[in-house]
Amino acid sequence: MSAIAANDKANDLEAYWMPFTANRQFKANPRMVVGADGMHFTLSDGRKLLDGIAGLWCCNAGHNRPRIVEAIQRQVTELDYSPAFQMGHPKQFELASRLARMMPGDLNKVFFTNSGSESVETALKMAIAYHRARGEGHRTRLIGREKGYHGVNFGGMSVGGMPANRKMFGTLMTGVDHLRHTHGIEGNSYSKGQPDNGADYADDLIRLCELHDPSTIAAVIVEPLAGSAGVILPPKGYLERLRKICDQHGILLIFDEVITAFGRLGTPFAVNKFDVEPDIVTTAKALANGVIPMGAVFVQDKIYDAFMTGPENMVEFFHGYTFSGNPMACAAALGTLDTYEEEGLLTRGADLSDYWQDAVHSLKGTRHVIDLRNLGLIAGIELEPRPGKPTARAFEVFLKAYEAGLLIRTTGDTIALSPPLIIEKSQIDFAFETLATIIKSLD
Ligand SMILES: Cc1ncc(COP(=O)(O)O)c(C=O)c1O
Repeated sequence: MSAIAANDKANDLEAYWMPFTANRQFKANPRMVVGADGMHFTLSDGRKLLDGIAGLWCCNAGHNRPRIVEAIQRQVTELDYSPAFQMGHPKQFELASRLARMMPGDLNKVFFTNSGSESVETALKMAIAYHRARGEGHRTRLIGREKGYHGVNFGGMSVGGMPANRKMFGTLMTGVDHLRHTHGIEGNSYSKGQPDNGADYADDLIRLCELHDPSTIAAVIVEPLAGSAGVILPPKGYLERLRKICDQHGILLIFDEVITAFGRLGTPFAVNKFDVEPDIVTTAKALANGVIPMGAVFVQDKIYDAFMTGPENMVEFFHGYTFSGNPMACAAALGTLDTYEEEGLLTRGADLSDYWQDAVHSLKGTRHVIDLRNLGLIAGIELEPRPGKPTARAFEVFLKAYEAGLLIRTTGDTIALSPPLIIEKSQIDFAFETLATIIKSLD
C-alpha cells in the first residue's frame, strides 16, 4: 500500500485549521452558516441571523445581490481567467478607471490585489520603491501605529500594532517604528463621532523624525479609523496634522481603508469623510462586496509616474499576483459598484448616522458598558473586562447574540458593529435592544 494513500480519512471537522478562531472551542460547538440573503445569514438549523458586521466588514451591499450574482455568472462563461502579467482584459481597465473617478484628488492609478493584507504589502513596497526610483533609496523606514491592524503578512504585521498578532512571529521586519495609539485619551469617552482630544498625538511623528532623521523614513501607514483593535476614531485634526508633518519631511502618507472604503463612513472613502488626501490608499473587502476576494491600491499620479521612467520594454514594478485583476473579481466588483450606485449605498450611512448614533448611545448607563463610540455605520461598545479574564465578557455577548439571532464581532472586550449599508431602522432597533438585554444579563 502506498505510504500516502489515506482515502479512508473521515469527512469531519478535524482537517480544517480555521483562521483567527478558537478551533477546539468551535469544533466542540460549531456555528455553521449555510445561506445568506439581504441582511441575514441562514444557519444549518434553519435559524436566521441578522448580519451586524457585513460578513467581516465586506458585504456592504448585503448578501445575494442580483447585479453581482449575474455579473459573476455571465463572466464565468465568457472569460474565466486571463493571465495577470503581460496580458490584459477589458474589465480591469474599466474597473480601474471607474474607481479612479470615484476617488478624489490625484489618487488616479489603481493596482489590483486579492485581499487587504496584499494591498498593504503592495503599498509598503510601492512606497520604498518610489523613493528609490527618485534617487532617495535611503528612505526605507516605515512607521505604523500601536493598535494598528494592517493584515497578517510580514510587512503589515510589522507596521501593525496588535501584540497578539505579532508576538509569535519573531523579529518581524526591521526598520519599523510606531506612533502611539489614540485610544482612551482623557476626555474622549462617549464621543459622538470624532473625539475632541488627541490631535497632538500626531506629533509623535515629529519625535520619530528627530530620532531616525526624516531622510530615512519612506512612509507612515494608519487606518483613518481603526476597526480591528476596537473601533478607534481619529481625534479631530489628527489626520490633518499627520498629513502636514509628512509633507514637511517628504514622507508618504498611506491610509489603510480596507474597512472604511465603500460607504462605511457615509462617504465613498475615508478620504472624502476626513477631507485629507494621502499619497496611497489601500482597499479590499467591500470592493467586490466580499463575494470574490479582491483588493485595490490607489496611488497618486506622481507615484506611478516615478516608475515610468526606464526603458519602455522593462517591467517597471516587480510585483503582482496571479489573481491581480482577475476577470471574476473584476466582474463582481463592477456589479458591486453598480449596486452601490443604483441604491445610493455609498452615502446611505450618512442618512442613517443620526439614528445609528442615538441607538449606540442608548446603551449609555447599561451595566458593564464603559465607553461607546460611533461614526458612519460603525459602533464600538466597550465593556469592562472581567477581573483576570479579559475578552470573556464580550465573547459571552457574542455567543448570546448568536443564540438571539444577531451576528456581532468582538475584539478584546469591545463589541464592534458594522452592518451592511442596506440595514433598516427596525433592524438597528433589533440589534441594540438585543444587545442591551444581553449585556444587562451578564455577570
Ligand atoms: C485595516 C485593515 N487592513 C488590512 C486588513 C487585512 O485584510 P485581509 O483580511 O483581507 O487580508 C484588514 C482586515 O480586517 C483591516 O481591517
